[in-house]
Amino acid sequence: MTGRFITFEGGEGAGKSTQAALLAERLRAAGIDVVLTREPGGTPGAEAIRALIVEGEPDRWTATTEALLVNAARADHVARLIRPALAAGKWVVCDRFVDSTLAYQGAGKALAAADLLEAHRFATDNLWADLTLVLDLPLAVGAARAAARGRPDRFDRLGADFHDRVAASFVHVAHQEPDRVRLIDATGDVEAVAAAVWRAVEPLLP
Ligand code: TMP
Repeated sequence: MTGRFITFEGGEGAGKSTQAALLAERLRAAGIDVVLTREPGGTPGAEAIRALIVEGEPDRWTATTEALLVNAARADHVARLIRPALAAGKWVVCDRFVDSTLAYQGAGKALAAADLLEAHRFATDNLWADLTLVLDLPLAVGAARAAARGRPDRFDRLGADFHDRVAASFVHVAHQEPDRVRLIDATGDVEAVAAAVWRAVEPLLP
């Protein structure tokens, strides 16, 4: 039996990490064996690559180098954590995955989606989520939450136009792939958003 793969996506400050953790908790309460993880990162090697991706000056890498770093981290994460967990029948809940690459390196940094999808196929042997939850929040609200948290990363420091393109990409993919991707209104309180997440996940339960 293979497990299910659920990803969370969205802009900065949308509450992905909180919601991913709450979903993992709720699935465990339902008797499901869950691996909670994140990208970039999730394995020791991928976490080391994450530091290269999120730390330093915004222009530290070219867009192409950045896309390859993201995929290098993902290749390790998928091969060493995600695929083995799924093969063992566990569910994997992941904070960000390929839709973030299409949004940040594609829409944000103008790399071609076809090239990014090719890199994704190579890095992961074409692994896709069973369900992707895009937490949808007005940019200003997300930016304020991210700022309140402090520790701006390389992407937080890019301009509003960049983050507009990122947000539009997530909405676009939700419309393009309605079977895989659900837009979740993230403007409510944590419990309201968690309830909407659970309604989207319930149909996958055994
Ligand atoms: P976080 O904000 O969820 O911790 O993610 C770290 C940053 O990495 C975030 O600003 C978005 C960026 N990122 C990409 O640019 N491309 C990717 O493929 C992924 C997974 C993340």
